[in-house]
Amino acid sequence: MLLETFGNRLKTIRENIGISQLKLSELTGVMRDQISRIENGQINPTLETVYKLSTALETPLSDLFDFSIDDNIVFKQYKIKPFVKWAGGKTQLLDKIKELMPKEYGTYYEPFLGGGAVFLNLTPNKAVVADYNSELASAYSSFKNSNDYQTMITELIKHEANHNEDYYYKVREMDRDENYSKLPNPIKAARLIYLNKACFNGLYRVNSKGYFNVPSGKKEVVKAYQPELFDDLHEYLRSPNITILSGDFEKAVESAKKGDFVYFDPPYDTFDEQNNFTTYTKDSFGKEEQIRLSNVFKELDKKGVYLMLSNHNTDFITELYKGFNIEIVHARRAINSKGSGRGNVEEVIITNY
Ligand SMILES: C[S@@+](CC[C@H](N)C(=O)[O-])C[C@H]1O[C@@H](n2cnc3c(N)ncnc32)[C@H](O)[C@@H]1O
Repeated sequence: MLLETFGNRLKTIRENIGISQLKLSELTGVMRDQISRIENGQINPTLETVYKLSTALETPLSDLFDFSIDDNIVFKQYKIKPFVKWAGGKTQLLDKIKELMPKEYGTYYEPFLGGGAVFLNLTPNKAVVADYNSELASAYSSFKNSNDYQTMITELIKHEANHNEDYYYKVREMDRDENYSKLPNPIKAARLIYLNKACFNGLYRVNSKGYFNVPSGKKEVVKAYQPELFDDLHEYLRSPNITILSGDFEKAVESAKKGDFVYFDPPYDTFDEQNNFTTYTKDSFGKEEQIRLSNVFKELDKKGVYLMLSNHNTDFITELYKGFNIEIVHARRAINSKGSGRGNVEEVIITNY
């Protein structure tokens, strides 16, 4: 049991990082066949071999042994998904994105995280993820810290039990209070998740003053706390190798180095008013922001970072990323646009490799 569990753990870590057995063999000098037999629990590796594996995988020894035999827990491949519905969610393009991703990379970066459909499906071993929306970023952080996690669950269960139309609007109004920002993160996180589940269409939208303004979804019952999913999210996100930041994309990718992988999924360029620079405002992601992003993309490219970027297939975007690989894909989006086909919108996936 011990060997099998250790083997499973090693395999999960290796696959999460995206290293093949062959590559690991080259990095450690341990024969590939031997690595395969260790992963299958067929042989007992020496401490020296385990040390070599941990060094090559850039994973602390303690992480390799982070499993419990007593509880009969075999460390699993995570099956987690977003805990909130978010505009621009990437679930439907996941297969294509995964097909176009590099097979091996160091740290995973996703600076426009949103609902995190790609990140949470990949569950990379080392990651830096960020979003400008501080409410959302602190919701992720509430999954990371064990005390905050418990507080958030207690609050969510309270929201579920009290749910009705009046209660929804009472919770929605909380951010109008001048002391709202001083509330503890897990309380704000539970509010965000509850509102996201209970509101119309599962949206996050704020008005010009920054107040949440989506009407109620008029649901009889709201299930905001999903115990299995939430426990798995907590278990995964609490790893010290997962960094969650709140803030601008440029800062979030500052530490990316050669061999790392960055997936950019920014707010999209609009099909309307192409080349109209007046759409820019401080808080929206207009043409000037798209240009700033393309400059960051080009700087990272020079450093040897693997890069992937999603956006609408507009002339403005294809011109900005001229010279990189541009693949056109189709997505169903519930928005009015001049994309091709009924309900189909043309998007691009741009890569530099
Ligand atoms: C298209 S959504 C990402 C969708 C996400 N990939 C998903 O699957 O749900 C874009 C995200 O970028 C965030 N954002 C907007 N401006 C930003 C900025 N300057 N830096 C970082 N994040 C930003 C928004 O808050 C939003 O969550």
